[in-house]
This record gives sequence, structure tokens and C-alpha cells, in this order.
Amino acid sequence: MEKKTILTGIRPTGNLHFGHLFGAGKTWLELQDKYDFYLEIADVQALTDNFHNPSKVHLNVFELTSDLLSIGIDPKKVHIFIQSQIPEIAELTVFYSNLVTMARLYRNPTVKTEIAQKKALFGNDGESVTYGFVGYPVSQAADITAFKGELVPVGEDQLPLIEQCREIVRKFNSIYGDILKEPEPYLSKTPRIKGLDGNEKMGKSLGNAIFLVDDDETISKKVMSAVTDPQKIKKDDPANPEICMVYYYHKLVNQENVETVCEECKKGARGCVQCKKELIGKMNEFLKEIREKKHYYREHPEEVLAILKKGTEDARKVAVSTMRDVKEAMQIDYFEKENNHDE
Ligand code: TRP
Ligand code: SF4
Repeated sequence: MEKKTILTGIRPTGNLHFGHLFGAGKTWLELQDKYDFYLEIADVQALTDNFHNPSKVHLNVFELTSDLLSIGIDPKKVHIFIQSQIPEIAELTVFYSNLVTMARLYRNPTVKTEIAQKKALFGNDGESVTYGFVGYPVSQAADITAFKGELVPVGEDQLPLIEQCREIVRKFNSIYGDILKEPEPYLSKTPRIKGLDGNEKMGKSLGNAIFLVDDDETISKKVMSAVTDPQKIKKDDPANPEICMVYYYHKLVNQENVETVCEECKKGARGCVQCKKELIGKMNEFLKEIREKKHYYREHPEEVLAILKKGTEDARKVAVSTMRDVKEAMQIDYFEKENNHDE
């Protein structure tokens, strides 16, 4: 049986952190064995927010790719490719832009939330929201359909974008014929990872992320300032581990000892400082292999480049074939043989 096609994307705006690894990363590692997997480094999408900072996006294409390789994404199984190097995505975006109304884009909950965040951040009335930004769901629909993506692994916040893509596909097919595939979202089973500060979400912009490239000292600092049970003042006070972020992280990286941590905490048999130090040790152990691989790729940037080049070439072939079908259906395939009236 043919493998189903999976397509997902990630914006190259920073390094991977624990939230990525335990969320999307784990899901991707499982999926890479079972599907034909296209993983897009969405640099064009990253530029919608960072158009004034091209060097940041450029650098992070390589940082992110080597992070992905370091956590075990296998380029023999996954086509890792760069969005901007597939011109067919940009072409499709233009064609699809006629199939979407402005009102519908503004109503998209993901776009709405992100515009509200920008307004809060920049304190303006939204006048500075660009055409490219409002339109990024259209470009994301092009990402997915260019590769005939059937399943799209995403977080819950991205569901409205998949729905918008499905609408575009239906509209396209109803006008031009049955060409495009309607994708299904694939929701990650792993819950969202909380920050050490107790925030429900870990994020770079929230300032609470633990990056996979953090060194020992940075990890120590972050763990030492983690939120614990505020009722626990003295070392031998009994406490409630369920409201402690240090315990939450023991559950992620120190599974073999979580029960001991939990019992000792409840009995007042462990101090928070010792508990944090143990966690720091475990985190460093957990990151050891990832750091070694990352170090390797930093020393061998040409390998990362070659992987991206190969992944992009493979992906491009699929996009070119989709584009041929799309142009034929839209009757804009003027120079294809059978339509060339001079012959
Ligand atoms: N918008 C996604 C995010 O910010 C990244 C992305 C780009 C994507 N293209 C995609 C996700 C295509 C799924 C499919 O996380
Ligand atoms: Fe948290 Fe450990 Fe302190 Fe208990 S002992 S409150 S689990 S840091």
C-alpha cells in the first residue's frame, strides 16, 4: 500500500525548545517511520513577521534544521525543504488569493488572535498589519496542497488554518475540476508543555523557554528560578508537588525517579534546592546526545546545506507536477504542447 503524504511546516525564527521537542517533535519522530513526510522550513512565512530582519531568518534556517536533525529527524525518511526555494508555492498563493475573501481572512481565529497580539505589542490600531501577514493562511494552503498533503500535523492553534485550506481546496475543485486534495489535520497526542514559570505554554516570546542549545549554566539558572510550591518555606516543610514546576519537569526527564521525588516532597524529606539540582543533572543527561549531534552539525554546515538541497529538490518535483495539473485546469498552460496553436 502507498504511504500517505504528510506535510507540516515550522517557522525558522529561533532554536527548538523543550516545548517543541515534547510537543511537535515527538509526534514527528513517530510519523517519519510511517508516512511520506515533507517538512517545510517556512522561511517565507517567517518573513511575514521578520521582513525587516532577513539575517535572522537566514541564520535560523540552518539553526532549526540542525536542531531537527539533532533530535532525530532522519533526512533519509523526511524531505526537509526550504519554502522560498519552491516557486510553485508562491504561484499557487497568487491563484488561491482569488478564492478567499478579505472578510473570511479577518475572521480566521488564528489571524484574529495574532493581529490582536500585534496590536497589544505595538500599541497601534492595527494599521501596520501587512497584506502578506493577513494572507498567510492562503500561502499556508499553498504549502499543503503543492505537495498533495493528506495529513497535516499541527497544534490546536493552527486548526483554523487547516479549515481555511480545506475551503480553498473545495472552492478550487468546484470551479476548475477535481485537482487538489483536501487535507486532514493530525493533532498531536502530547499535551502542551508548561513553562518553568508555571505558564501554560512554553514559548520564546514568553521568555520561559528552555532551548535544546542552552548550556549547563543557562539550564542551571533557569531551573533554579523555577516556580515551586509557594507554601514550602523551610527545607523540611511538606509540599504539594502537583503545583510545582520542578516536579513537572522531573516527570519529563527523570521518569525513573518521579515516585521518590513525589513521596519525599509530600513528606518534607527533600529540600527544593537539592530537588532542583537533581533536575539540572537529569536535564543535562537528557540533552547529552542532542548536544553532541548539534555540535557535529555546527562543525559540518556543508552537510546541513546538502540535506536541505536534496530535500528541496525532491519536494520541488512534486510541486512542479501539481503545478502542471493546476495550470491545465485553470487554462493557463499556454505553452504546453497540445495547447500550442502554432504547431
Ligand atoms: N504556521 C505554522 C506555525 O506557525 C507553520 C507552517 C507553515 C505550517 N506552513 C505550514 C504548518 C504548513 C502546517 C502546514 O506553526
Ligand atoms: Fe517542588 Fe521538589 Fe520543592 Fe517539592 S521539593 S516543592 S517537588 S522543588
